[in-house]
Amino acid sequence: MKTIVLKTVNELIAWRKGLAPGARVGFVPTMGALHSGHASLLERARSENDVVVLSIFVNPTQFNQASDLEKYPRTLKADLETAEAAGVDAVFVPKDSAELYPEGYRYRVIETELSKELCGAHRPGHFDGVLTVVLKLFGLVRARRAYFGEKDFQQLSLIRGMAHAFFLETEVVGCPTVRETDGLAMSSRNLRLSPAEREVAPKLHAAMTSLADLAAARRAIEDAGFRIDYLEDRVQPTGEIRRFVAATLGEIRLIDNIALPESENFAIGGPV
Ligand code: PAF
Repeated sequence: MKTIVLKTVNELIAWRKGLAPGARVGFVPTMGALHSGHASLLERARSENDVVVLSIFVNPTQFNQASDLEKYPRTLKADLETAEAAGVDAVFVPKDSAELYPEGYRYRVIETELSKELCGAHRPGHFDGVLTVVLKLFGLVRARRAYFGEKDFQQLSLIRGMAHAFFLETEVVGCPTVRETDGLAMSSRNLRLSPAEREVAPKLHAAMTSLADLAAARRAIEDAGFRIDYLEDRVQPTGEIRRFVAATLGEIRLIDNIALPESENFAIGGPV
């Protein structure tokens, strides 16, 4: 089966209308530069639905720095091969941002609490851009389920919250973070690390998982050469405690989060 590439909103709407009325559509929204983390979302979507849609769109409204938007990795040819190999039925790759923003950015989704914290405190407007584009995409794709990685846990919580607040019919499914063998969370931004930075990058995950004490973890991360935006333990609505970090190495800002073990044996390898 050949993956179909849709470049305009009208093409997507027409293709969606052609699906059988009860078809279960699984949707994976991305900004491209696909890696194994994305492949795991596609695999899950493939296994749980009749039809799989992938979107690739580097969404300008969620970037608060022009240089970050400009330098975001773009690997469309390889991405289309990944989509084909994963059995994706349709890839939506808007030909320009006016496709999704015909009125510019006049209409937008604004969340007033969680979106202002953690990453939101350091990237003003970022989550408004994310929520706005996801709402637009949900409206177009009309999926039964949409899949997001837990690596962007705050994003996942906000998208879930929006789906609930606006009675959206798409179920938001969170999927575990996929890591490199050295623990570094997979991210499209990893492509921008220099070889030397790539060697150092796993120390972020190592410090947050091995040191129960936040101050000690903070020191280890800074000693490795990162500038920390935040490092916090937060109780989730489920009662789970998660540790969140964002830190910059050279020019590249990395984020990660883990569920903290409930036992006192926090450190992998024994109590601290
Ligand atoms: O996680 C991402 O890649 C993006 O934030 C998303 C959800 C595709 C919205 O642009």
